[in-house]
Amino acid sequence: MAPVSTNGNEQSTASSTGAPPRVTLHLGHLPSKKDIKAPWPRTPTRVDPNNPPWPAYRGYHEYSFAHATMQSRLPTILGKAIEDATRTLNGQSLEERVVDLVQCIDRMGDLMIDLSGNAKLRPIIDDDEADVALWNKEIAKYFQGKDFMNAPWLFAEAYKYRRLHEAFSISKFWRDYDVFYRQKCDTFSRSTDAVFELSLRFAEPFKINESLSPKEKLEAERLMFLELTQVCLWGNSTDLSLLINMTEDQIKSLQSTGGDSLAATEKNILGNDMHRLWDHVRQLREKTGGRIDFVLDNAGFELYCDCVYADFLIQSGLANQIRFHGKRYPWFVSDVTKKDWEWLLNTMVYGQLFPKASDAERESLRRLGIRWKQYEKDGKWVYEQHPFWCTGYTFWDLHSEAPDLFLHLSRSDLVIFKGDLNHRKLTYDCAAPASTQFEVAIGPMASSAGAPVIASLRTIKSDVVVGLGPQGDKISDELTKAEPGWKISGKYAVVLLSEGRPGEPVRFA
Ligand code: F6P
Ligand code: MG
Repeated sequence: MAPVSTNGNEQSTASSTGAPPRVTLHLGHLPSKKDIKAPWPRTPTRVDPNNPPWPAYRGYHEYSFAHATMQSRLPTILGKAIEDATRTLNGQSLEERVVDLVQCIDRMGDLMIDLSGNAKLRPIIDDDEADVALWNKEIAKYFQGKDFMNAPWLFAEAYKYRRLHEAFSISKFWRDYDVFYRQKCDTFSRSTDAVFELSLRFAEPFKINESLSPKEKLEAERLMFLELTQVCLWGNSTDLSLLINMTEDQIKSLQSTGGDSLAATEKNILGNDMHRLWDHVRQLREKTGGRIDFVLDNAGFELYCDCVYADFLIQSGLANQIRFHGKRYPWFVSDVTKKDWEWLLNTMVYGQLFPKASDAERESLRRLGIRWKQYEKDGKWVYEQHPFWCTGYTFWDLHSEAPDLFLHLSRSDLVIFKGDLNHRKLTYDCAAPASTQFEVAIGPMASSAGAPVIASLRTIKSDVVVGLGPQGDKISDELTKAEPGWKISGKYAVVLLSEGRPGEPVRFA
């Protein structure tokens, strides 16, 4: 179409390259251009991984957290991972293993070049992992020609962790090497105060005063539930990807679990369905205890808090089985793998992690660990690791890309999603207004037949914020003015509930 002008002058221009002259039309009598707002959310049929229901966050949005992550945080994290592997390399003696590890480190170097040079996203090499087909299908369908900066942030960030895994998974001896393992163990050992605060209280099975009336007992249990929900929630504020430079004192203050501190922190829960969550959970005992699933987030202290909460749910009879869902390989620095799970339970029972602890403190941790291991033996606690959790898909696609997992979760009485990344995946990680209802923001995870009851326990560490109620947009705007970094500080949180949709999940051909 010919260029147009609205200033009344008709122009003719000839380019110095000999291109034909350009004619500019005069449209001064037409109505002026209107500021048309695109209709959000996108209609469901037009939603896909490159086009989320609301505008996507992308790494090229300068001054956004997506940009800061893609530009600086991920290269820093990768640099530290290379340092870790190099440290391991320096302790090796057998030539075959040394050479194999050098190749892994070289591949990490290639990834660093791709990341900092903003290369196009290439397919994942077939390394026999169960998720390769899912990754390559998504890349081929939606991200051909896309690079680290212009693909949606969530996908590009997840892709980086998959490539990091690939650097090891195609090796002979280092398939299962975890570049973050040292860091994960280290933060737990630096969480001394909070660890013993909880173990001293829960080493013995808890008892509610027998002399109380049934109503009073229920109230005592409700109060415990609410406090432990907060312990479980705030355990998420200490993920390693953000704590790289924190001092021990700063970590301590984040992990404070004292009663006063919990009361004060409840006001920082900006969308708070904790009381509705209790109403749901307390009914489970009537059917002799329900099945509750935890889609886990971080290892170490957060996992420990999750387990304290899960222990309470079992002891109180509210749940008769807890299923924990972890990752199959190192993911977003601190996420739980099977090895982290085993490490935690075994270190509690046999470890020497806290040299300054008193005998009573050490014993409290040991007893707690023994009880938790027993739950595993009795099948009351089950650890699982479905490949879907380490893909770039959001949970809007869970029912279509992992129907077996959706069916499995649909049989749960409550699925608790922990942490920021799971929340980003539930909500498609896009710029939905803060007043958007949680059930709308999670799309098919709330509306598909068979959608389970879902709770998201998340400290806010990235841009997407929903579920703040009808005044949500105003609350969010005011916070942005008063505390510009409020969405990434981990100071605020949400506990949001979706009531699910009963029914048999649709079967996919
Ligand atoms: O790198 C950004 C990020 O994905 C943020 O969403 C979050 O701050 C962090 O990494 C992971 O947080 P969490 O462990 O709570 O999912
Ligand atoms: Mg995490």
